[in-house]
Amino acid sequence: MDFLYRRVLKPILFKMSPDTVHDLFLALGEFSGRLAPLRWLFNFLYGYRGPAISKTVDGITYRTPVILSAGFDADGRLTRILPSLSFGGEEIGSVTAQVCEGNALPRMTRLIRNKSLVVYKGLRNRGVDALIAKMKRTPRVPGFVLGVSIARTNIPEASTDVEAGIRDYEESFRKLNEAGIGDYYTINISCPNAYTGETFIQPALLAQLLPRLREIPCEKPVYLKMPINVPWEQFAQLLAIADENKMQGVIIGNLNKNYDDLAYPEDAPKEFRGGLSGEPTFKLSNELIKKTRGKYGKRFTIIGTGGIFTPEDALAKFAAGADLVQLVTGMVFNGPGLMKNIAKRYAEELPA
Ligand SMILES: Cc1cc2nc3c(=O)[nH]c(=O)nc-3n(C[C@H](O)[C@H](O)[C@H](O)COP(=O)(O)O)c2cc1C
Repeated sequence: MDFLYRRVLKPILFKMSPDTVHDLFLALGEFSGRLAPLRWLFNFLYGYRGPAISKTVDGITYRTPVILSAGFDADGRLTRILPSLSFGGEEIGSVTAQVCEGNALPRMTRLIRNKSLVVYKGLRNRGVDALIAKMKRTPRVPGFVLGVSIARTNIPEASTDVEAGIRDYEESFRKLNEAGIGDYYTINISCPNAYTGETFIQPALLAQLLPRLREIPCEKPVYLKMPINVPWEQFAQLLAIADENKMQGVIIGNLNKNYDDLAYPEDAPKEFRGGLSGEPTFKLSNELIKKTRGKYGKRFTIIGTGGIFTPEDALAKFAAGADLVQLVTGMVFNGPGLMKNIAKRYAEELPA
């Protein structure tokens, strides 16, 4: 099946714009999820059926330790089909308090030799109310974990000042908790293409945001989505604030803003805006995972994200100290068989 994807499907898909392919995938995935025979077919092709590899983290059991990263399914349209692709969970979102159109097209560009996507989506999503309504009317697949990532609405009216930003996060967080939607929550402070920039990666401002969110009753684990381009001193300050505010864990991390990290920088036209996914995030994220584990031991759950294209890449994230992994670009480049291959390889590594 991997061969079929790489030799037949991928050359066709990669002739279309990534935004078009993404829309197609969402429509096909949502449709397939509604129909039992199609769910069965995808499960037959891409479902993991080896020895049990489930993993319980913060009281939540994942059938496989592979989660779809935030951003691919911002509006929760794929919740019924992703379990058939060997994902143990998905992170819906990032969702924002208000509807958010996102940036102008193109919102994604492929850098094929660099194994990367330039992501300029600008937090496009239908807003938290629409997400809650959608989740309430969509039957859940038992055992499939749904995290929800929350970000600040990326429109000028909501971007006036820090207090407006805090209220925006508060609104989404409160509404999701009250509705009981989501098994865990992620506070995304590190979207590189929002009007206000990454306001809350400044430690002094994160120290204002998190206590406000803690005032909202929440029984579920809460994670912080970390930036990967800040110096270690700043990263460590953010971790200390997450610790003080009793956050269960961190996701390491978001997109890479540094175009010098591309293996072929000449492939990225100068007018490009947006963060880089895939290969240019791999090493940075692994190093930060290692340092975080080294400094904090088991204090934080760590979800490792960035540049997983092969089962070996996933094992490298676990070896660095990740409890779970997330991916998106690897699936775009290597096809929907990747998660099953990771699960199989992960099973081989488990002690007998
Ligand atoms: C199209 C796209 C949209 C993304 N949108 C979000 C988002 O809304 N929130 C977020 O926290 N991360 C977002 N990300 C970042 C991913 O969740 C992930 O951290 C990053 O892409 C590294 O993983 P990868 O190399 O497997 O893609 C997005 C990534 C992509 C490719």
